[in-house]
Amino acid sequence: MTLPRSALGASPPGGRHQQPGEAGSAVAPVLEAHDITVRFGGLVAVDAVSASFSPGELVGIIGPNGAGKTTFFNAISGVQVPTSGRLLTNGRDLTGKGPHRYAANGLARTFQTPRVFADLPVLANIEFGLKFAGRRPRKYWLWGDEKDVPWALRDAQSVLAVIGLSAQAAMPAGAITPSQQRLLEIGMALATRPRLLLLDEVAAGLTEAEIEEMARLIRRLRDELDLTVVWIEHAVTTLLRHVERVIVLHQGRKIADGTPREVVRNPDVIEAYLGDEMADAAVYGAADAPAEGAPA
Ligand SMILES: Nc1ncnc2c1ncn2[C@@H]1O[C@H](COP(=O)(O)OP(=O)(O)O)[C@@H](O)[C@H]1O
Ligand SMILES: [Mg+2]
Repeated sequence: MTLPRSALGASPPGGRHQQPGEAGSAVAPVLEAHDITVRFGGLVAVDAVSASFSPGELVGIIGPNGAGKTTFFNAISGVQVPTSGRLLTNGRDLTGKGPHRYAANGLARTFQTPRVFADLPVLANIEFGLKFAGRRPRKYWLWGDEKDVPWALRDAQSVLAVIGLSAQAAMPAGAITPSQQRLLEIGMALATRPRLLLLDEVAAGLTEAEIEEMARLIRRLRDELDLTVVWIEHAVTTLLRHVERVIVLHQGRKIADGTPREVVRNPDVIEAYLGDEMADAAVYGAADAPAEGAPA
């Protein structure tokens, strides 16, 4: 399946991403998870979770610690083979396949603890993703050019420019700040030229201003690179301001899946996770209906 390319991509703007709600049944989901269950001995970490992600969606996943968020990511990226359930990417059944097969089908992820090559320069970390992982169109190898790849992701320097780390290109990855390492990890994921980007707590440990900046970057990546993005984050209020849909996990189960406004009003979600005060704060910033006087 070829997605339309926009601003930073190979084709002119206009073929913008699908808005949630107008995601008609005609558009094949980028990823479908059917009744995914992951057991660790007696513990059911993920309990029959189904979810579908359409092209161009920006979806948040929230839930208390231990809710199964990371395990769900591991299952849908091939890192953890689910105990039961089925996984389809672009309609292809990849259940039981390894991470490289998911990567080859356009899926990229970051890890809760950043995994960068600390001794290698920042630029070389990006080159690794570009050369050895993900979608490797033959043409790219032969001629250094590929029509289907957004120009912003064609080489390591341009990927660094997208994530704002050009000035750090020559520094060892271990020597840049933790927040820069998180950006670098996103860059390494982007270098595999994904269609679906899974982000696991990329804003953890960042200051409030940095979290907001990260959220804007994530939105920009989705908009300009025609990505589908699924974003796990603890900074719930920021997340709810930026995503169009949010899935709530609690004790391995999916207890809600809807717009931020719907989800923060869901009594089960308030009881299990948000609490009344948090829900009030979150409603104020919910992305689908900006409050009056709120910054646009
Ligand atoms: N490899 C593992 N072996 C055993 N238990 C695990 C493993 N990974 C996660 N768990 C358990 O599964 C549950 C869900 O964990 P996790 O997916 O990391 O939650 P979250 O990311 O929502 O905080 C937790 O109870 C955790 O201790
Ligand atoms: Mg986690």
